[in-house]
Amino acid sequence: MTTARSTFQPAKVSKTRYDGFAMLLHWVLAVAIIGAFGVGLYMTDLPISPTRLKLYNWHKWAGVTILAVSALRLLWRLTHRPPADLPMPAWQARAAHLVHGLLYLAFFAVPLSGWAYSSAAGFPVVWFGVLPLPNLVAPDKELAHTLKEAHELLAYGLAALVLAHLGAVVKHMVLDRDGLLQRMLPGRG
Ligand code: HEM
Repeated sequence: MTTARSTFQPAKVSKTRYDGFAMLLHWVLAVAIIGAFGVGLYMTDLPISPTRLKLYNWHKWAGVTILAVSALRLLWRLTHRPPADLPMPAWQARAAHLVHGLLYLAFFAVPLSGWAYSSAAGFPVVWFGVLPLPNLVAPDKELAHTLKEAHELLAYGLAALVLAHLGAVVKHMVLDRDGLLQRMLPGRG
């Protein structure tokens, strides 16, 4: 019995890395958010056309998917302990936690504001053309205008947080050389 357990001991799994599911959620969301941001910027500059309509739909569907995956990710994060912080000055650890907290907030605020904007503008969202989603607010032109601005601002805020996050990773890899990125990559140990 003891030999069988020694090959698989979940309680003693090394805490130098995030677990596999946390990594999967991290990278899926990273790609989806960067994609939704790029499509968002591109589509708004297009003239009215079938392509523009198609991209708006894909943007909305991807955004709602990001919202759902973010909810799963938050749940996972709250129920699974991450690896301990690497040694670093206290202010850097505080800054990292602040940026991570704000990123989680933005994962919800950006898609929710987009969804609310669509509702206010009178365009209910039908997820992948199959699942009609409820309107978050009643159609209202003035509110739609405010929500559109809010969605843009929040999306730029999210982009700024992602840049700060990436800047910190580069700093850890190039200056500190402390293996920070490996914590979010599959591997041994
Ligand atoms: C993380 C998810 C999302 C990101 C990163 C994102 C990002 C963006 C960006 C960068 C823009 C362009 C802003 C500009 O004009 O400069 C945009 C526009 C837009 N987004 Fe999103 N978005 C997300 C989710 C959503 C969702 C869930 C919906 C609706 C269900 C949505 C609906 C829209 C609409 C309708 C516009 C066009 C606004 C206009 O006509 O100017 N977005 N988004």
